[in-house]
Amino acid sequence: MYLLILLAIGLLYTLVTYRLHRRYPETIWDWDKQNLNDLEFPENFMWGTATASHQVEGGNVNNWSRWEEGNHRDGTPHIHNNDQSGQACEHYARYKEDIARIKELGLSSYRFSLAWNRIEPTPGDYNEEAIAHYHQVIDTCKQMGIRPMVTLHHFTHPLWFEDIGSFEHEENIEHFLRFSEKVFSEYGRKVKYWCTHNEPGPFATMGWGLGMFPPGIRSLKRMSRVLQNLMRSHLRVYKKLKSMPGGDKAQIGLVKNIFQFDPYRRWSLLHWALCRLLDHVYNESIIRFLRDGLFRIYVPGVVFIQEKFEDAKGATDFIGLNYYSNLIMSPLSPQKPPFKPLTRPGQVLTDFPYTTYAEGFYRALKRINTIGRPIMVTENGIPDAKDDRREIFIRRYIYALSLAIKDGCDVRAYYYWSLLDNFEWAEGYSMRFGLYAMNFETQERTLREGAKAYQEIVQQHGLKPHAR
Ligand code: BGC
Repeated sequence: MYLLILLAIGLLYTLVTYRLHRRYPETIWDWDKQNLNDLEFPENFMWGTATASHQVEGGNVNNWSRWEEGNHRDGTPHIHNNDQSGQACEHYARYKEDIARIKELGLSSYRFSLAWNRIEPTPGDYNEEAIAHYHQVIDTCKQMGIRPMVTLHHFTHPLWFEDIGSFEHEENIEHFLRFSEKVFSEYGRKVKYWCTHNEPGPFATMGWGLGMFPPGIRSLKRMSRVLQNLMRSHLRVYKKLKSMPGGDKAQIGLVKNIFQFDPYRRWSLLHWALCRLLDHVYNESIIRFLRDGLFRIYVPGVVFIQEKFEDAKGATDFIGLNYYSNLIMSPLSPQKPPFKPLTRPGQVLTDFPYTTYAEGFYRALKRINTIGRPIMVTENGIPDAKDDRREIFIRRYIYALSLAIKDGCDVRAYYYWSLLDNFEWAEGYSMRFGLYAMNFETQERTLREGAKAYQEIVQQHGLKPHAR
């Protein structure tokens, strides 16, 4: 009898793992058999590069900068090496020369974010100088034939918004809505592409899950509320901007980051359970919201949130996809940094604790495509200070992109992260993502050898000047 029960359990276990294995394959290609030059892109495909205000502008005050000065409870500094964003790339002053670099690279679009703290330093009061500044940035782009894409919220906001709990409280969305309306009324006639929130997943996880970003909380429950409020916020901003003059012509989207969680041991149900749970909270909650208008997070005994939005389905003109890699997880993996990366044989690590995994980019595109909206790859890049993996990274990821397009994904644009090395949040200046290497002492920018692969691909597949 016992033997029969054991056999039945064994059979069930095998069946379940087999099904999971089949349903969520961890695709690995044999790179010797892929022709990386076999690339095809739609005629009007946009090639670009991206930055975010806090990471490049320099002179940050009254925002995330306060976090840069503090320590965690255990005494370690919030930012690696005690770095502070400081003068960063002085992009606030040097934007013209940087936009000229984008043009020189042959790109047709620039994604950047607005510093809300500069524009609205106190609630409801707008700073004319800051508003004029972004007019100039946008105008410069247009004069140089570069299409601007503006992000409204890229992780940072004014301190007054932080101090009332930012996106943890539904009633605070009102402030973000007012800011969004204001800037859309300023720039809406000039800018076609708008991103509402950059990466709800990392923003909520780092701030309220892992406690690595402000406000430094570690609570799955509170983190889930933040995610829910970000979806509400996206929806309200989207609807508001669409109803404003010029809204019908604007393309407004949410930026979703995907990290796949792949089990280290693919035959272990424990590993699968962990990965499915992480995916449910981090990825599927947002994808389901965009696809079906339902926001749902259920972690037994910890959190249950379910909200149906009647008008959320399709309430995004495009989905911005930020993709870097997958995370290979084991229940024994540490629950807070420093994370030790798990890899498959032959995989190459980036300077962050994750590998280069172009197959995952293909997987992410296929998954996002199920939402049924056009996709814009709003970020993709590699932290590679030595510049010895960048070229192959670019060639493989762009190959995966092209393959996804051939296989039916409706992708309209690709933005390399990032134009310049910049302030990489909790990692300070240790991560070097730039097409241009920065010397932060002299502010000198040097095009990296590896970046030339991107330039070359764009030259072959970019927009013809008349189509800009
Ligand atoms: C963020 C960027 C960041 C990049 C590289 C994305 O999560 O949007 O601000 O610099 O990843 O880590």
